[in-house]
Amino acid sequence: MKTRLPDGLELAYDEAGSGIALLLVHGFPHDHGLWEGQLAGLSTHARCLAPDLRGFGGSTVRGPYSMDRYADDLADFLGALGIPRAVVCGLSLGGYVAFAMLRRHAALVRALVLADTRATPDTAETREGRARLVALVEREGMEALAARQLEGSVGRTTLAERPQVLDSLRHMMTSVPAQGAIGALHAMMERPDSTAQLARIGVPTLVVGGVEDTITPPDVLRALAGAIPGSRLELLEGCGHVAPMERPDAFNHVVAGFLEALLDD
Ligand code: MLT
Repeated sequence: MKTRLPDGLELAYDEAGSGIALLLVHGFPHDHGLWEGQLAGLSTHARCLAPDLRGFGGSTVRGPYSMDRYADDLADFLGALGIPRAVVCGLSLGGYVAFAMLRRHAALVRALVLADTRATPDTAETREGRARLVALVEREGMEALAARQLEGSVGRTTLAERPQVLDSLRHMMTSVPAQGAIGALHAMMERPDSTAQLARIGVPTLVVGGVEDTITPPDVLRALAGAIPGSRLELLEGCGHVAPMERPDAFNHVVAGFLEALLDD
């Protein structure tokens, strides 16, 4: 499905279920396919909406690219669908976008699920690494980026036992338009530090991630949860950075519990 935003941009998305809106925001370099297991498994708990950010999947490839712009697009997306508030669930890049939504569109955020993400900005070293990735994509395309990032995205258990996850992830990574990926790399390099806003988060928050995540390791997730008043932390065994794809049932179980508690409030 696609919806046209007021500025003419088209966002592609998938949707399943009914009830409380759950906005699923993918990471880098992914698309809404990251959330296939959640659309299948959480649709009995929520209206699951999984858009492709601008420049990804089937959405329009058009700048400018920034966390603020991605967040504004998602606010327009919810507006276009007539949704006044949503539980915003972002994985990694999706988490950076969730922080921007909180800064710019707090009234739209009913609750937060922060998956395998961090509040801190890029270090100088990370920025240099991203500049090298931009050059790699310009020179050799998305296949080269996928070859560089694929195995590090999953945990050692997935590497050993679930090769089909790598196939799906490779397909998703290589399908991302190169210009969109380059735009996102610049946007991530320039993203602000969201640490100071953590203590002011006033909505129910679940922090969740894989025990085997080497990109946002458990210590990062513990620190993130520790800085958000009243938040809950769930670390999932046997998976890495793309926990919702690697262990969809375990991921869905903790998110379903979080949604049920919200509805009981
Ligand atoms: C992601 O999964 O979105 C990336 O790891 C984010 C990043 O590169 O900072």
